[in-house]
Amino acid sequence: MASLDELFEAARAVRDRAHAPYSRFKVGAAIRGRSGKIYAGCNVENAAYPVGACAEGGAISLMVASGETAIAEILVLGWTDAHPDAPGLTTPCGGCRQRIREFAAPGTPIHVAGPEGTRRSFTLEELLPESFGPENLG
Ligand code: THU
Repeated sequence: MASLDELFEAARAVRDRAHAPYSRFKVGAAIRGRSGKIYAGCNVENAAYPVGACAEGGAISLMVASGETAIAEILVLGWTDAHPDAPGLTTPCGGCRQRIREFAAPGTPIHVAGPEGTRRSFTLEELLPESFGPENLG
């Protein structure tokens, strides 16, 4: 299977496990680490709305807990099951762009997908220009 297809399938499978009873917007994220291993996460909402967690954060936590700290590429997909054809792009939220930034390079690809496949690919630099990161801390 092509490497992007593999990421897509991993994100789609984990999206099915999302806990999103409040927004009904289920998201899956799949990271390919520098080792080639894939780490996937889904959004986990909470009755106390602000403490819900994004899919990207879950995938990053799994990557780090597995002993890896470099993102080679990441794919994010999300939609509401009632409207799978909505044309929008589920790009990572601002906080997740910064979370990805911690473990990625300016040119790291961020793929954004819908149910049918990848809709757009960006680099981290495109989504988070002039960013602050670990090297700023010296
Ligand atoms: N969400 C993510 O998990 N990742 C994104 O990139 C965009 C938004 C989640 C948060 C919330 O559970 C739901 O989608 C609606 O905002």
